[in-house]
Amino acid sequence: MIIAVDGPTASGKGTIAKALAAHFGLPHLDTGLLYRAVGRQVALNGGNPDNPVDALAACGFADDLLADEILRSEAVGGFASRVSVHPAVRRALFDRQRAFALQPGGAVLDGRDIGTVIAPEAQVKLFVTASVAERARRRWLEMTGRGIAADLAAIERDIALRDERDMNRADAPLMAAPGALVLDTTTLGRDAAVAAAIAAVAVHRS
Ligand code: DC
Repeated sequence: MIIAVDGPTASGKGTIAKALAAHFGLPHLDTGLLYRAVGRQVALNGGNPDNPVDALAACGFADDLLADEILRSEAVGGFASRVSVHPAVRRALFDRQRAFALQPGGAVLDGRDIGTVIAPEAQVKLFVTASVAERARRRWLEMTGRGIAADLAAIERDIALRDERDMNRADAPLMAAPGALVLDTTTLGRDAAVAAAIAAVAVHRS
């Protein structure tokens, strides 16, 4: 069974995808991490994320980079969003994601275009979303919880900008796949959101 979990940043899709993978005994791929690694590698190369040649050159990042905590930072997230608009970057990362989706027994992948581009044949497609204000609040809590100084208004502006870029790019824009179940987590706590997702998968796969 392939489970596609798409949605905007800080919607809870990563938490939900991880929980679904554990519950159904499937391997999980956070595809945003691949774009984050490209964004980080561009910076390490001294390149420009808006330049398609620099961004493509960064797709050859070493796998060790995927474990670097810096990939979780807001700065790298912004770079990831910028490199992800380039079709050549999306093509370069396609095979790896597609192979993961097609492994025997299935997989859970989360990202922006899993249900639309990477695995349109997924048996279950979820689109996880939440209001911008709530997503900013979660990101702020997560950052301050890790001892990082954070400005809520600035985070909200960044999230809105990232949504705008991810939804309006020409190649594989962020959107709910046809037939996807939309799960709005704005008023749901973690456990309630995970329970709703598990219930949705159980219904959809039958
Ligand atoms: O899910 P995330 O915040 O880690 O993703 C970072 C950026 O990577 C996001 O703003 C857009 C891009 N991305 C993408 O274009 N397609 C994916 N499948 C996953 C992420």
